[in-house]
Amino acid sequence: KKESKQYTIGFSQCTGADNWRKTMQESMYRELSFNPEINFIMKDAGGQSEKQIIQIEQLIKQDIDLLIVSPNEAEPITPIVEKAYQNGIPVIILDRRTNSDQYTAYVGADNVEVGQIAGAYTNTLLKGTGKVIEISEKPGSSADIDRHKGFLEILKRFPGIKLVDKLDGDWDKNSFEAPLTKLLKTHSDIDVIFCQNDRRALTAFKVCKDLGLGKKIRLIGVDGLTGPNGGIDLVDKDVLNATILYPTGGEEAIRTAISILHKQPFKRENRLQITMIDSTNVRIMKLQSEKLVAQQQDIERRQGKIEEQRAISENQSIVIYTVSIT
Ligand code: FRU
Repeated sequence: KKESKQYTIGFSQCTGADNWRKTMQESMYRELSFNPEINFIMKDAGGQSEKQIIQIEQLIKQDIDLLIVSPNEAEPITPIVEKAYQNGIPVIILDRRTNSDQYTAYVGADNVEVGQIAGAYTNTLLKGTGKVIEISEKPGSSADIDRHKGFLEILKRFPGIKLVDKLDGDWDKNSFEAPLTKLLKTHSDIDVIFCQNDRRALTAFKVCKDLGLGKKIRLIGVDGLTGPNGGIDLVDKDVLNATILYPTGGEEAIRTAISILHKQPFKRENRLQITMIDSTNVRIMKLQSEKLVAQQQDIERRQGKIEEQRAISENQSIVIYTVSIT
């Protein structure tokens, strides 16, 4: 039976500026291309919580049938998301969380586990003794809070490993370069830097290199994107010792949204798998991800061809129609 009802999904994205978010959005659009009954409105808050609140307010006023939200910071975004939920709008929380359990479904990986894996890997590198710096995600985001929590949980088991400092890695690319340079000048004995994403890890690498500490300090990142200077490439080039592949969940969020809108069964908690990537598995990860990208490009090419064919046959039927009435 053909579904003819149209639905509107509103998506409140905390920021759209970086490649991880762009990858998330691409996978959403790919999944949406199979669902022409969906009207999709995305609003990008540019990393500002006040803006995100206003944008969610606007989406509620636009009578959306479902809200997907990736909250910038957990606390300030919580009340407006609760409001949407209480207004009867199904809410899918994607990647970062609010501080509330008022939502219909969650899609994302467990950030406490991300921190734990980074902590365990730090100990594998240091064998129980050494000095560490952590560079944060967006401060106040659930990703930052949870990654830090998991990281500390594991480090506490190894009293010989000392977390010297945690620097705010804010959205301004340069924001932690100066404090990190200063810190490394006074602590030239730092062994590991855990960066809560690969973009920050690349910046940290440049800082270390400029100080002549390039080979000495080991770097761990998070995200593991494909493509040039993505986490997989950075591990392959030996810029990073490891990254934790943190899936975007874009495709899964749209699938869950479709199930909710079509009143089909869905899971409330959709916990995505994370994977550690280091020199032992980076080649296979690289090959697999390149293959996946090639397959996706193939699908897009095919979709383009189908559209072309459809346009041609529509033109032909107009011609036939014109001929038959004259
Ligand atoms: C992208 C990002 C990723 C990170 C995620 C956490 O905006 O910072 O690098 O894994 O958000 O929410």
